[in-house]
Amino acid sequence: MDTDLPGERISVRDTFGIDSPLVVNGFRERTEHVPDVDESYRFNPDVTLAVLAGFAHNRRILVQGLHGTGKSSHIEQVAARLNWPCVRVNLDGHLSRLDLVGKDAVVLREGKQVTEFCEGIVPWALRGPVALVLDEYDAGRPDVMFVIQRLLERDGRFTLLDRNLVLRPHPAFRLFATANTVGLGNLNGLYHGTQRLNQAQLDRWDVVASLNYLPPEEEIAIVLARVPALADDAGRALVAAMVAVAGLTRAGFRAGDLSTVMSPRTVITWAENSGIFGDPALAFRLSFANKCDEAEHPVLAEYFQRCFDRELEQPVPLAATA
Ligand SMILES: Nc1ncnc2c1ncn2[C@@H]1O[C@H](COP(=O)(O)OP(=O)(O)OP(=O)(O)O)[C@@H](O)[C@H]1O
Ligand SMILES: [Mg+2]
Repeated sequence: MDTDLPGERISVRDTFGIDSPLVVNGFRERTEHVPDVDESYRFNPDVTLAVLAGFAHNRRILVQGLHGTGKSSHIEQVAARLNWPCVRVNLDGHLSRLDLVGKDAVVLREGKQVTEFCEGIVPWALRGPVALVLDEYDAGRPDVMFVIQRLLERDGRFTLLDRNLVLRPHPAFRLFATANTVGLGNLNGLYHGTQRLNQAQLDRWDVVASLNYLPPEEEIAIVLARVPALADDAGRALVAAMVAVAGLTRAGFRAGDLSTVMSPRTVITWAENSGIFGDPALAFRLSFANKCDEAEHPVLAEYFQRCFDRELEQPVPLAATA
C-alpha cells in the first residue's frame, strides 16, 4: 500500500516561497479530502515551518493567535500543497465525546431497525493518511478534551472502549490544533466560550506556533492577493488606508478605547465589500462599525477620518427619522 505513504519529495523553497533548503514528503495523488490549493496564499515562514515539521516529523502542532490571522488556513494550505488529506473539526460547545468517538445509532438493515455502532471522526481519521485539525481547541468541552488527550499520547494508541478495540494510528496520521487563547483562557474578554486549557494537555503538544497580526506591508499584500480587483495604484492606496484603520483599532483595543479589534479577515471582507458597494465608508460601516458598540462609533469615525482624510458619515439614527 505504497500510495498510502507520502513518497513524493517536495522542495519547501519552490512550493512555499520560503528561504529554506528543506525537502518534505507529500503524496503524488490528490484525493478526495485534500483541500483545494489557494494560489494566492502567502505563507508566514515561522508558522509554515512549524506546520511542515508536523507533517514531516509527526509532531503535534498547536497554532495560537488572535482571530482571523490565518491559523486554520495555514494548515489547510500546507496540506493542499503536500496533497495530504486534511479534515477540520470545530470543537465548538456542541461537539461531544460521542461525536468524536462514535455512538450507537438505529439504522435500517433489510427493512428492519437495528442498533449499530457508528464510528466518529477520530477512529476514521486514525485509520488513514489524514491530518486532523482541531479548530477552536480552547473552546472544547472537558469530555472532548479528554478524548483528545489520549490521541496526544506518544504511542498514540486509541482505545474504543465501547467496542473493545485498540486502534493504532496510520503512519501518516497527523494531529494539529488552532486556538485563540492558550493557558489563561478569556483574559481580555475577546473570546467568550473559551476554557482555560489543562496544563497537562498543553504539555503534550510538541510545538506551539504563534500567528498574530502581521506587519502592515504583509497584511496589505495578503488583502491584495485576496481581492485582485484592487491590484492597481489606487487600489493599493485604498488597501493601505484600510490596513492603517485596522492598525488603529488594534492600538485602540490595547489602550482600552475600543472593545473590538479588526482582524485581517475583516479587512479582506471590507475590501471586497468596497467593490460591491462602491464606497469604502459605507463598506466600513457594514463590515466593521456595525459589529461595534454604538458608543464606540465616534472613535471609529475618528480612525476613519485619520486614515482616509474624509468623514465617515454616520447613518441617521432611527429615532431622528421618526
Ligand atoms: N497568509 C494569508 N494569505 C492569504 N490569505 C490569508 C492569509 N492569512 C489569512 N488569510 C485569509 O484570511 C481569512 C481568515 O483566515 P483563517 O480562517 O485561517 O483565520 P483563523 O486564524 O483560523 O481565524 P479564527 O481564529 O477566527 O479561526 C481567510 O479567508 C484566509 O484565506
Ligand atoms: Mg480558524
